Amino acid sequence: MVELKTAASIDAMREAGRVVAQALTAVRESAAVGVSLLELDTIAHDVLRAAGATSPFLGYRPSFAPTAYPAVLCTSVNDAIVHGIPTDYRLRDGDLLSADFGAELDGWVGDSAVSMIVGSPRPADERLIRTAERALEAGIAAAVVGNRIGDISHAVGTVCRAAGYGVPHGFGGHGVGRRMHEDPDVPNEGRPGRGFPLREGMVLAIEPMLIASGRDGYHPAPDGWTLVTDDGSRAAHAEHTVAITEAGPRILTAL
Ligand code: MF3
Ligand code: CO
Repeated sequence: MVELKTAASIDAMREAGRVVAQALTAVRESAAVGVSLLELDTIAHDVLRAAGATSPFLGYRPSFAPTAYPAVLCTSVNDAIVHGIPTDYRLRDGDLLSADFGAELDGWVGDSAVSMIVGSPRPADERLIRTAERALEAGIAAAVVGNRIGDISHAVGTVCRAAGYGVPHGFGGHGVGRRMHEDPDVPNEGRPGRGFPLREGMVLAIEPMLIASGRDGYHPAPDGWTLVTDDGSRAAHAEHTVAITEAGPRILTAL
């Protein structure tokens, strides 16, 4: 069931989203050679506490997961696509880090992700990340009343494929509200004009995931959570929580 949010609820979600943006900004500013993934988790957790917010990730156990999620941040490095669990791994020069974070404030959830390069960038990684961001922008631009979910999916997928990248299936965007994962699903590829009609008050997390090699295959790592590419090539992820309003798409997880 797709729950429509009132204008007041969307304003409340914006406050949760602001905490998410603050935490991801702190993670971006801290991600450097020699910093561990657990240190980044602590930095994000500190922002959450300071804002009086809690984590929708910590303890989360969806049907696909073997264990409760043990952290507040997902840190997916290089061939990890999403859902990387922070460990004592220390970032190295040239690593591609995707950081995914959620906050719950006053009962409302925000969910967002950014990808970044640690230290000296490789041009191929810069292009991959830029394309993830462009795919997200295209998906957001399609999040308007009168369109359908398939229009968002098509917009996202077209940008990814046109650049030659792979798109992992089975994971993608979702409705978000009082819970982190609500209906409807927002796949990262689809057909225009198909799927659930977009209405004022829908709030969606749109989250393209791209694989550099152009192949789509992935599998869970031994931890059961981290999704890694089958061919070892690098992946990028970008995500915003977006409200559909009569005035157009409103990004709730920007600073
Ligand atoms: N943005 C991610 C998603 O929607 C958040 C996963 S949270 C986790 O799948 F706790 F499941 F890791
Ligand atoms: Co999400």
